[in-house]
Amino acid sequence: MSNYHEETVYQRNSLLGYSLDWSNRPLGFKNYQHRPPLPLPEALSCPASFWETALPAKIKKPSRPPQAGELSRILRLSAGITRPRWEDGRMLGARAPASAGGLYPSELYVLTSGVTEVEDGLYHFTPLGPAWQYLWPGPLAAYAARSLGGRPARLTFFITSLFWRSLWKYNSRAYRYCLLDAGHMLANLELALAGFGFPVRSNINFADNSVSVLLGLANLDEAPLAAVRAGGAAEESGGPEFKLPPLDLEALPLSRRIGRDYLLLSSHRAGDLEQPLAEPLWHDPEISRPEELISLPVPTPAGNPSLQEIIIRRQSRRDFGAPSPSLAGLSLLLKACLPQPAPVMALVIAGTGLELAAGSYLYLPGRHALLARSKGQDWRRIVADACLGQGFIAKAKVQIILWADLDNLGKKGGPRFYRHAMLAAGKAGQRCYLAAAALGLNCCGVGAFYDDDLAVINGMPHRASPLYLLACG
Ligand SMILES: Cc1cc2nc3c(=O)[nH]c(=O)nc-3n(C[C@H](O)[C@H](O)[C@H](O)COP(=O)(O)O)c2cc1C
Repeated sequence: MSNYHEETVYQRNSLLGYSLDWSNRPLGFKNYQHRPPLPLPEALSCPASFWETALPAKIKKPSRPPQAGELSRILRLSAGITRPRWEDGRMLGARAPASAGGLYPSELYVLTSGVTEVEDGLYHFTPLGPAWQYLWPGPLAAYAARSLGGRPARLTFFITSLFWRSLWKYNSRAYRYCLLDAGHMLANLELALAGFGFPVRSNINFADNSVSVLLGLANLDEAPLAAVRAGGAAEESGGPEFKLPPLDLEALPLSRRIGRDYLLLSSHRAGDLEQPLAEPLWHDPEISRPEELISLPVPTPAGNPSLQEIIIRRQSRRDFGAPSPSLAGLSLLLKACLPQPAPVMALVIAGTGLELAAGSYLYLPGRHALLARSKGQDWRRIVADACLGQGFIAKAKVQIILWADLDNLGKKGGPRFYRHAMLAAGKAGQRCYLAAAALGLNCCGVGAFYDDDLAVINGMPHRASPLYLLACG
């Protein structure tokens, strides 16, 4: 899969002559022909504070059946519209997760089994309304569990990607953005569930075909990328009499002509699994001279903003006039962004004016510490130049480059690990946005960069492939 990443690098001059067919622009909402949108249950308020949820902590509440109003809020916080805007009869408003180009390729489904006041079955969430479509009656949780590995749950969510929405603009590079976008939605979903006190179990290593069948996806244009189980164990026997939803639940085409991309599809399918596999564990890399580590202060939030408000308030902001974050602020930002070791690593580019010498630092989530890679120079302008010259990035107080050693990941876990890395980068991105909002900072995700230029920024390890960047300040 490092091949896909290499084949979709941006190079200087490779973006010339680029144009979009606006008359064939894909719809941003999935429209089922025979499944009318139904009003969602009245949403309950999410009681959690952002920091209590975002910083790793054991969820203490007992697992009880989720309620309809909680599920309604969880769906809205994961994928709902937060800033409505209509243009020529189309809803083009911004949504809770950030999305490359605001194209929103991700779709959200939930399978319920024993949720109070909700009929068991498979639902599709549509941010328009917001509403949901009842796709197929349950019980299906046991079938889902067989596709995911492990036990059936009262709530099973699926995040899919409708590749064409992003492909329309970004060509083969779209697969990167589809994965990053799905990671953004996954972060919100996990936080919203945790905010209601539900322990969460996320799956990337599920059996692809069997999940596609479960969701009624008849073709290659929409693919499941992540699943999340929560809400306690479902009481289902899982007998063979279960009916599966019909394949192709007849959704309206996204546009007149639907494009496909061979590189995208073949790269995605190369990572498919026939059977679910255990989810891998990730660790900080070995450090040859641990005495050189700079320990960050224990993350101690100053305020107590609500998770719900922070998710709704989140927005890409490209002005960085706020005062520089203190070291305590940086500590919170990094901990919330990457609470534990992940298949991605972060190189922190510190500008001048921080309580840290300007330079580049490797962040080690397991140790919550920084390792100086190059001190005394401010690399921010060079980073901005590598990001297609997007000038606002140079003014960020902190830039976070999320990267992975893709060759090494591929050797360890095969092509599926590309999905792990990109989803983790997207998740870290959304969490970074939210933490920045909670700290009174601005943030913007950046997926457009000349890969080779960013890969040689001083401090980037040899063989590191940049996946995504966050500009904060
Ligand atoms: C994967 C990804 C890549 C992005 N790349 C860029 C970028 O290169 N430059 C930029 O200005 N914004 C970028 N953005 C921000 C989006 O433009 C923004 O999320 C979208 O317009 C929706 O607006 P909102 O984040 O304010 O809700 C990116 C966002 C994501 C999730």
